[in-house]
Amino acid sequence: MTKPSILITRAIFPEVLEQLRQHFVVESNQDDVIWSADELVRRLQGKVGAFMTGTEKVNAALLGQCPHLKLCANMTVGYNNFDLAAMTAAGVLGTNAPDVLTETTADFGFALLLATARRVTESEHFLRAGLWTRWSYDMFAGAEVHGSTLGIVGMGRIGQAIARRAALGFGMQVIYHNRSRLDAATEASFNASYVGKEELLKTADHVMLVLPYSASSHHAIGAAELALMKPTATLINLARGGIVDDAALAEALRDKRIAAAGLDVYEGEPTVNPALLSVPNVVLTPHIASATLGTRRAMAALAVDNLIGFLLHEKAVTPLNPEVLNRAGA
Ligand code: DGY
Repeated sequence: MTKPSILITRAIFPEVLEQLRQHFVVESNQDDVIWSADELVRRLQGKVGAFMTGTEKVNAALLGQCPHLKLCANMTVGYNNFDLAAMTAAGVLGTNAPDVLTETTADFGFALLLATARRVTESEHFLRAGLWTRWSYDMFAGAEVHGSTLGIVGMGRIGQAIARRAALGFGMQVIYHNRSRLDAATEASFNASYVGKEELLKTADHVMLVLPYSASSHHAIGAAELALMKPTATLINLARGGIVDDAALAEALRDKRIAAAGLDVYEGEPTVNPALLSVPNVVLTPHIASATLGTRRAMAALAVDNLIGFLLHEKAVTPLNPEVLNRAGA
């Protein structure tokens, strides 16, 4: 039987490439060139599947030009690069990589929260610049994390893993806002209270964003929302660029309308709004919340399982639009 052809759109672990080669004819991109939309379409010709990294846009324009395509497998949990309605209409399955990154991402939420509230990077820059000449009582005095109130916006798997750390590890009071309320037993397991978004922003000492990006969450935090926050509060965005209005945030940080922010994701990344680069009270990391080798391997493995499962056995592990699966008779 001839092997089906697939495309791997970005550089990936060599052993993942080898594993896929056992099952498929593979075109890969180990030089990690960022392809234009036209180049992606060109490379997808004759391919039935694609291993993707969450940045390649799959929309009606691309699908119309790739008639052989059956599956796009993201190695990320986020899938805002997929136009799922267009994919379903074209009979193309999308899959993502949930669960395997939950705990690692929640750990990073705390790394960013602690670094931001306790001014870790700001003080390190000061030290490296040779400016540290003496100890003083208020030098880089930050905000308390333990015992404070954490407001989590978006209470899915990652939000809940953060809530557990907050309540059980740091004795924090957890308040949250989400599209739907958790059941009482889950809320009780980390002593969390459901509140409206406005109350959360007004009450929390630290606000952590872990909601998915969509048209309705675009600029969910803008100037009006930042104005509701305490002047001592911190804002952490682990979710997606575009959920925060970065220009409004830079202004709020510059004017000390909130104390500090920790950001792992940006509007238009990898470009970062220059206004953010010029304020000291923000910790900036390059979209690495899930970046441990173990977790990134597990994320890639899930994409591989989806490719093998669906293209060879018509069974996907984590389908996003299962209507397509049912249509394929799996
Ligand atoms: C995801 O999986 O969506 C993370 O943001 C990593 O890119």
